Amino acid sequence: MDFKKKPDTNFTKLDRLEKKDAAEEARALREGINYHDHLYYVKDAPEISDAVYDKLFQRLQDLEEAFPAIKTDDSPTQRVGAEPVSRLRKVEHQAPLQSLQATLEADAVRSFLQGARDRADKQSIRFFLEPKFDGLSVEVVYDKGRFEYGSTRGNGEVGEDISHNLKTIRALPLSLRDCGKAPESVALRGEIYMTRKGFTQLNKQRVERGAEPFANPRNAAAGLMRQYESRRAAGKPLSVFFYEILAMDGDMPRTHAETLAQLDDWGLKTSPLNESATSFKQIERYHSKLAEARDDLDYEIDGIVIKIDNHELRDALGSRDRNPRWALAWKFEPREEITLVEDIVVQVGRTGILTPVALLQPVDVGGVTVSRATLHNEREAQRKDIRVGDRVRIIRAGDVIPEVEERVKWPGRKRSEPFAMPKRCPVCDAEVVQEGAYHLCSAGLSCPAQLRGRITHYAARDAMDIDHLGAKAAEQLVERELVRNLADLYALSVEDLESLDGFAERSAKQLHAAIQGAKDPRLDRFLYALGIPLVGRRVAGQLADKFRSLDKIMAADEKEIEKVSGIGTEIAAATANFFADKSNRKVLERMRKNGVKVQSMPEPKKQPLRGKTFVFSGALEDFTRDEAGERVEALGARVTSSVSGETDYLVLGENPGGKLDEANARGVQCIDEDEFKSMIDES
Ligand code: IVH
Repeated sequence: MDFKKKPDTNFTKLDRLEKKDAAEEARALREGINYHDHLYYVKDAPEISDAVYDKLFQRLQDLEEAFPAIKTDDSPTQRVGAEPVSRLRKVEHQAPLQSLQATLEADAVRSFLQGARDRADKQSIRFFLEPKFDGLSVEVVYDKGRFEYGSTRGNGEVGEDISHNLKTIRALPLSLRDCGKAPESVALRGEIYMTRKGFTQLNKQRVERGAEPFANPRNAAAGLMRQYESRRAAGKPLSVFFYEILAMDGDMPRTHAETLAQLDDWGLKTSPLNESATSFKQIERYHSKLAEARDDLDYEIDGIVIKIDNHELRDALGSRDRNPRWALAWKFEPREEITLVEDIVVQVGRTGILTPVALLQPVDVGGVTVSRATLHNEREAQRKDIRVGDRVRIIRAGDVIPEVEERVKWPGRKRSEPFAMPKRCPVCDAEVVQEGAYHLCSAGLSCPAQLRGRITHYAARDAMDIDHLGAKAAEQLVERELVRNLADLYALSVEDLESLDGFAERSAKQLHAAIQGAKDPRLDRFLYALGIPLVGRRVAGQLADKFRSLDKIMAADEKEIEKVSGIGTEIAAATANFFADKSNRKVLERMRKNGVKVQSMPEPKKQPLRGKTFVFSGALEDFTRDEAGERVEALGARVTSSVSGETDYLVLGENPGGKLDEANARGVQCIDEDEFKSMIDES
């Protein structure tokens, strides 16, 4: 039986099969499916239709269900469905996962080549050139040719076991080709990435569900790989490139060319863009070629990696500060473009804050069409002195939110008037008031822009979590004057809701039930849901922890609020003003009458890091900055963005930058991600 070339899908009925025949057929099906997976996911050159593939897969599932004893761990049917893990297990890498020295400068590349040549004592050294993938670095281990486990980079020595999620990635084979000849054990290094198209789609779905979008494909891949349940990663547009053998039983390849050929023989995906070179000129050409091709690729790269081909020479060069001296990353310039400011408009957010936004002549910045960019606030717009008609440099560094970097001088050109905030709200014409750096519409909830935004914010998942209450419903509720303030939500009848476009009896009942179900929120969520200017989730949590009940916060004045650690004058003023406002107090009173009962905070947990101040610098492998910050804050610590005399710890991620110098100068204790993790684990 062979399901590789022109597979026959006229299968024998299950009840006529003996176990022995079923086992043989299942074996052949697995071989066939692995073969077609490899063509589809690794080689990008399928030979059979999706329909035929689905039939093979279904048949294998049927066989394994009818004869459970014939199941194998590496069967393609076993990619999802493992029990969720309770936490990610730590695993020590078979060899360190070092990081790369990186540069933007051609001169640094020249000296790297020179250094290698000096060491080799001859001029003709061969280099390998590869894309620098912007993904998640992993170690994957195969035992006797079968996938054994895989882990994140962690601190380079110890990572976290993400096997259950890696197994869902179809480009990652569960058994190596020619398994019988594979070494006892082999540890590989590669990069997990999300396709750009898949990323855009995934984010669209997340936004529609009310979930926070991922900042970029790398964060999305890393986020999914660290989930406890494999079903979250399954079916996501994730893939992998392999680029190094970290360790293996038997003889290691002697050159990188041999490594790549070996990976390919094992059926592992390597980049089709890998090339070899012997001169700086060739390397420079490759760098320009990839910089240009970058936007046509379906995955993110942020530079090239130059590697010495010969392993003996690699060993002789060794490493320095965790970076091997045999490799160098030559990064691309951050993406930027120049375009024209066609207009500056002012948007009114849900908290009433006015934000100037530059409307730009649409321009392609690294594959994304940019037609608007925030100028943040009046001060910022004036500091950069951006005016209508100016030429500006737009930059999109790493992540996806574009920024106006600076004005590009245009000699001889007459400029328009400097930007100034309007005196009246562009949506409701109420007076605009200034609070610190911010301008606010004074109409509060009677401004439709604020009310619309406020309702969706109130209902969002991380706020009151009211299902089915999205932007469209909120817009209609405001337009039809069914809701004039947040308290009105609780007075809506099923009939009111049924009258909205897009709602029928069933959905109206569901929304009604969801609203009525949101009557006993915990204080921190409620404070965040109210949409008090400058009060995000973190601040809401701090206020709730300190004051513990809604009544106490409502009774506090600015001075008392300012005493909460981490809360500055602007936030304290905004919070006190919000609760002092008569119309806001009325709304809260009406909510109470409508049955809303805010739950006081439970007794505080121990806070072993109380009084300590943390600063983070560089990218951490296992947390986003926000996550890391939330972890230490939950333990009582404070997080600030720059190193000062008050800083207790600087946590160093990859490429820490200038903060490290500042910390050294001030004698601040620096800890790496691993030490940081043990600190929070112990606490
Ligand atoms: S080789 C240290 N090759 O870049 C030498 N790394 O530190 C072993 N990266 O986290 C790494 N593309 O994950 C190598 N073609 C490539 C790579 C690559 C991306 C990552 C790697 C590391 C980061 C820089």
